Amino acid sequence: MVVPIILYGSSVLRKHSAEVNEKDNIQEIVDSLFATLKEAEGIGLAAPQINILKRAFVIDTSPLNEQDLTLEKFEGIFINPVLIDRDSEDIIYREGCLSLPDIFEEVVRPEKILVRYQDIRLITHEEELDGIKSRIFQHELDHLDGVLFIDKISILKRKILSGRLNKIKRLSKIQNNQIYADTL
Ligand code: CO
Repeated sequence: MVVPIILYGSSVLRKHSAEVNEKDNIQEIVDSLFATLKEAEGIGLAAPQINILKRAFVIDTSPLNEQDLTLEKFEGIFINPVLIDRDSEDIIYREGCLSLPDIFEEVVRPEKILVRYQDIRLITHEEELDGIKSRIFQHELDHLDGVLFIDKISILKRKILSGRLNKIKRLSKIQNNQIYADTL
């Protein structure tokens, strides 16, 4: 089911998400994440962004593959993901976020990472990621700990963005009232 994406300004995005366990409806969480991500034409979406404080996210690089045919297409589900190790080499990449519409900034992160996560059946996998997969994984993992990519840019850059960030915050207030009204 396509659901609203929580915007910057909502306290939900700043919370620490809980581990997923066998009592959770994992299939439903994953279906909502994929449906909402596809509708928004994004490349990654974490459960807190759809108001579910659980450690899960999905990746689907299709929108990027439409722009760049040489890019490897990737789709993945990551439950209870952890970063085990990182390469010493950092790279810069311009990131955006569906919770921060129209804001794009360069963020420095390690290029290669070693990760552990569970699949939809809660079977554990360990994998080395690099390139776009590694980048999206790190961005989405941050969401599960209440961290946003704008936390990783310079204070000066954030100051420059403050007007636009406040505008999203105002939209977020309207959205919160709307979501609350819908549940009444
Ligand atoms: Co994001």
